[in-house]
Amino acid sequence: MGVSEHDLGDDRDEVSPADGTPTSFPGYRWKCAPQGHISTDNPARTLGEHAREPAVPHPDRPNRPDSPGISINIGHLRLDTPLLLAPIAGHCDLAFRILCRELGGVGLASTDLLNSNAILRGSTRTHELAATCEADSPCGMQLYGCGDDPLPEAACWAIDHGAKLIDINMGCPVDKVAKKNGGSLLLRDCAATTSLTERIIRAVERHSGGRVPVTAKVRLGWDPDHMVAPDLARRLEDIGIQAVTVHGRYTTQLFRGVADWGAIAQVVAAVQSIPVIGNGDISEPGHAATRMQETGCRGIMIGRAALRTPWLFARTERVLRGEGSPPDLSLTQKFQVVLRHIDLLEEHVVPVVRGGRGHADGHADGRSQVDGHGCTADLGRGQRHAVEQMHKRISWYGHTMGHVKPLKEAIRTAPDLAAMREVLLEWIERHSAAGSLSPRG
Ligand SMILES: Cc1cc2nc3c(=O)[nH]c(=O)nc-3n(C[C@H](O)[C@H](O)[C@H](O)COP(=O)(O)O)c2cc1C
Repeated sequence: MGVSEHDLGDDRDEVSPADGTPTSFPGYRWKCAPQGHISTDNPARTLGEHAREPAVPHPDRPNRPDSPGISINIGHLRLDTPLLLAPIAGHCDLAFRILCRELGGVGLASTDLLNSNAILRGSTRTHELAATCEADSPCGMQLYGCGDDPLPEAACWAIDHGAKLIDINMGCPVDKVAKKNGGSLLLRDCAATTSLTERIIRAVERHSGGRVPVTAKVRLGWDPDHMVAPDLARRLEDIGIQAVTVHGRYTTQLFRGVADWGAIAQVVAAVQSIPVIGNGDISEPGHAATRMQETGCRGIMIGRAALRTPWLFARTERVLRGEGSPPDLSLTQKFQVVLRHIDLLEEHVVPVVRGGRGHADGHADGRSQVDGHGCTADLGRGQRHAVEQMHKRISWYGHTMGHVKPLKEAIRTAPDLAAMREVLLEWIERHSAAGSLSPRG
C-alpha cells in the first residue's frame, strides 16, 4: 500500500507550502542524459544484487551480535539500521528526530534543507534548524544551493556544528528553491552539478580528514522525458559521493502518483558500489524489506508515514531482522508517544540563538537564558513554536487513532504544552475508565 497525495488528507494545508509549484524553464537546454540514453559500465549488475551482499561492518564498530547484517556503512559512518528518517521541512525538527530515534529503528536522521548563504550570514532561523545534540546522533545536515553559493563553506560550518554527514538537496521542487537556488534545479545540468558537488566533497574531505561522508538526495529527473538519476548517480560516485538517496518521482509530479521503484532500481544498477537509498511511499513495516529485495537498494528513507507513525522504523527493523511482522501499537501506546513528543518539544524548545552555536537546551517557561555556548535564548518564542508544532502534528497522529476528533480539537485549541498534556492525560483516564481503550486501540 503506497502513500499518495490523497493520503495527505486534511494535512494538505500544512504540506502545501513545501510542495510548491515546480518551475518551468521554457527553452532550457537539457544537459543530462535523458531517459533511454543511459549508459552503464556494469551491465552485468542485476536488480537485487546489492540485496544479497552482506552489510560491511566498519572496522572500528563491528556488527553487534544482536544486529546481524542490517547495519550499513556510508563512507566511514556506520548506521545501525538501513532506515533513514526523511528530511521534511517544518516537521522533522530536533524534537521529532529524537522521538523517532527513541522509538527505535532509525539509522540516520537529517535536518531540513538549510540554505548555505543563510548559514554563513548567521541567520537565526537557519541556525535553529541546524540545532542538534547527542541524542540526535548520527545527524546529517542537508544543504541546498547552486554553483554560485558557498556550499563548501557551509558544509564545513555544518561539520563544526555536529553534522556526521552532509547531504546535498537535489530534489526540492518548490519554486523558491528550484527557480534559482538549487534543489531540483540541479537535475537539469548534471555536469555543472557534478563539478559543484566535487568542490563540496573536496572541502569536506579536507575539513573532516575524510571522516564525514557527502551524499546527495535526488528525484528521478525533472520530468518523465528526462530521467537523469542513474546518469547523475554514476557521475557523483565517480567524484566521491558516498551514497545517493532517490525519491522515485519527477519534479513535475510533486507528490502525485506513486513512486517508481523500477526507476530507483535503474539507479542501483548504474552505480558501482555506493549504497542507494530508496525513497517514496513506504508506509508499512513490510515495505522496506520488499523494496530492498526488489531493487537492490541498501537503505530505505521514510518521510510522510513517519509523521503519522514514528514507530514505523522500530516495526520495520523487526521485519528486517526476520522477527516477523510485529503488532501495531495500542491506542494507549500511541497516546504515550504523543505525550513524549510534547515532552521533547518542551525539552528542546528552539532557542533564538544570538552570537553562538546552535544549541537546543533550554527552559520552557518563557525565561531567557544564556547557555554554555554563550547563546541567548528567547524561550517565549521557542515555546510558541513548540505549541504550533503540536497543533499541526496532532492531525497527523490522529490518522492512526480512529475516532478522536474531540481530542484533536482540544489539543489544537490548547494554549500551551502543559495544557495539551493535561488534555491528553484526562482523555486517556476517562476512556480507560470507560473501558474503551482496548489493547489494539
Ligand atoms: C512537507 C514536505 C517537506 C519536505 N521537505 C524536504 C526537505 O527539506 N528536504 C528533502 O530532501 N526532501 C523534503 N521532502 C521530501 C521527502 O524527504 C521525501 O522525499 C518525500 O516525502 C517522499 O517520501 P515519502 O513518500 O516517504 O514521504 C519534503 C516532503 C514534504 C511532504
